[in-house]
Amino acid sequence: MSLKRIAVLISGSGSNLQAIMDAIDSGRINGQIVQVISNKACAYGLERATKAGIPTTHIDHKAFASREMFDDEVRQCIDAHQADLVILAGFMRILSPAFVQHFSGRMLNIHPSLLPKYKGLHTHKRALAAGDKEHGCTVHFVTEELDGGPLLVQAVVPIVTEDNEESLQNRVHKREHVAYPLAVEWICANRVHFSENGIHLDDELLDNSGFRLGYEA
Ligand code: GRF
Repeated sequence: MSLKRIAVLISGSGSNLQAIMDAIDSGRINGQIVQVISNKACAYGLERATKAGIPTTHIDHKAFASREMFDDEVRQCIDAHQADLVILAGFMRILSPAFVQHFSGRMLNIHPSLLPKYKGLHTHKRALAAGDKEHGCTVHFVTEELDGGPLLVQAVVPIVTEDNEESLQNRVHKREHVAYPLAVEWICANRVHFSENGIHLDDELLDNSGFRLGYEA
């Protein structure tokens, strides 16, 4: 099976990018990152990629007159590298419908909540304010609805009484580094399929929450 060509879009630290690079290096993921694109020049993830010998591109969204024009530049960059899979890893831009449609079924995002709960920002604060006992992260396919596409993997963490926003964020972040490489591993091994009933992992139809990783998983 040929290696899947992966483009990763970031805006910041890139710790999820790092987790995926590490899983590739260890041979778990049948893929190669062909390009890391950031809309921020100072994103630390660009340094991580460069250190690993992965080509990077900075595309400044402020240099474009419209969202659509920026997105089109990013699309061209991804297509020029013939990426099979697009991974949003802390890419802090809302994507236009044309961009999302172009990569339909082959673009993933990670969101720091147990979707469909807490779409959007400040998820940890909102989970604490609601008095939730559990929180987590979700890897999902990207559709035009913000944080709304089909769910592939969820990792659950407990919320403890001493938690504040930062401690909860750190706990979730660690689980992101497990959930995202796992989702990418499955896709690159051709183990994930769509049908009219939902997402299948091998022969198993996943429920609407996706595959669920518990606290210890
Ligand atoms: C993560 O919390 C992810 O859930 C969100 O953006 C953050 C990216 O973190 N979408 P990093 O840049 O991968 O460290």
